[in-house]
Amino acid sequence: MKDRFYYIMTFGCQMNEHDSEIMAGMLEEMGYRETEKRAEASIIVINTCSIRDNADKRFFGSLGQLKRLKRENPDLIVAVCGCMMQQQHIIDAIKQKYSWVDIVFGTHNLHCLPELINKVINDRQKIVDVWDEHRGVFEGLPSKRKYDFKALVNITYGCNNFCTYCIVPYTRGRERSRKPEDILSEVRELAADGVKEVMLLGQNVNSYGIADGFDMDFADLIYAINEIEGIERIRFMTSHPKDLSDKLIGAFRDCDKLANHIHLPVQAGSSKVLKRMNRRYTREDYLELIRKLREATDGTIAITTDIIVGFPGETEEDFSETLSLMEEVKYDSAFTFLYSIRKGTPAEKYEDQIPEEVKHERFNRLRDILDAGMADNNKKYEGRIEKVLVEGSSKTNIKTLTGRTESMKIVNFYGSRDMIGKIVEVRITEGKTYSLVGEVI
Ligand code: SAH
Ligand code: SF4
Ligand code: F3S
Repeated sequence: MKDRFYYIMTFGCQMNEHDSEIMAGMLEEMGYRETEKRAEASIIVINTCSIRDNADKRFFGSLGQLKRLKRENPDLIVAVCGCMMQQQHIIDAIKQKYSWVDIVFGTHNLHCLPELINKVINDRQKIVDVWDEHRGVFEGLPSKRKYDFKALVNITYGCNNFCTYCIVPYTRGRERSRKPEDILSEVRELAADGVKEVMLLGQNVNSYGIADGFDMDFADLIYAINEIEGIERIRFMTSHPKDLSDKLIGAFRDCDKLANHIHLPVQAGSSKVLKRMNRRYTREDYLELIRKLREATDGTIAITTDIIVGFPGETEEDFSETLSLMEEVKYDSAFTFLYSIRKGTPAEKYEDQIPEEVKHERFNRLRDILDAGMADNNKKYEGRIEKVLVEGSSKTNIKTLTGRTESMKIVNFYGSRDMIGKIVEVRITEGKTYSLVGEVI
């Protein structure tokens, strides 16, 4: 049989990245091979994200570009999935304006992709199959990992928090956790396959098992994974401050494999704004967590965050509280976002939306403070010896290797390609704002 190729385009978070790995695994089992050239593909899948308006726009831009490919190759199958497809107005827009789409499916029926493809091939008709709700947790799906030496592992799906700005609870459904034994056996298999680093994924990993009434909580899971031979580093994403327990903070002290880094999204520095976001912690609660985390790690833990600028009703005074919190915490890095109205969320209805130019102006001030803090933190790395998991060649210079410290910092250094996938010791020679430079010792 002639080679048949697939091409997957992924937008959004690590959940989506992992979903794409699973789709790649299923397509490989069907006999397709991956290509980096869209024109060569017989199946193109776009895995979408609806977290902000620019993600929506980028999707429609990419979809528009496929019209020509479909005209040139009418047998090409175009499939679209992911969070955007869980919204009816998006499906309506696709039906009306993008007639070259063959398959629309959602976040709850990812595992149906092979069946949907076969139907399109056999019946030559378009399919829209989006489930409103999840129908259980599906185990045993194949996955084609992006990296040999590190892996994404889902521990929970969905979200119950309903932050007032956020679309995720509507696109991913209610929170449910995978059983501890399924997670542990997957991690054991990954270790046997040579994986050194696992990233445990969930919208709020800290509430792992609670809604499902498991005996094991998130901290217990970390302790159990810490015992698995072959795994050298454990990471997790994302941690919600309202559910961060003292037991988990203790795990940073006790578990040698738990990377000395936490991503702890604060979103805003004003308790008034946090309340309106329905985050269910105050500025003071958050700062207390930071204090405890630093205490448990002798001040060494790297802390990163997410911040939204220009949430409805954010006054200059509220915003200055975000800036002062940034100065106080001195983050190692942050994802910073302009608030973006999401259809169907409570904040869509708030009348005190902030003008775009005000959002942008605040955003720039925030970035300046963030960059100054990052540069300061990175300078402190100069002279230190760090354990770096080598990920590949640097993007800008093929002769340079790039990897990450335990604290998630990017380090560029000279070395031989056989170091890729290994943890090596690197002496840091320069701390720049966004990365470190070092030499192998
Ligand atoms: N579950 C994670 C976040 C997932 S979404 C958590 O609660 O931390 C990733 C980030 O996108 C959020 O932390 C938030 O900062 C940002 N975000 C979500 N909705 C947004 C919106 N409507 N506008 C701007 N940023 C948004
Ligand atoms: Fe969205 Fe809040 Fe859930 Fe995170 S915790 S996914 S921000 S609703
Ligand atoms: Fe985007 Fe869905 Fe993730 S909205 S951020 S891909 S959960």
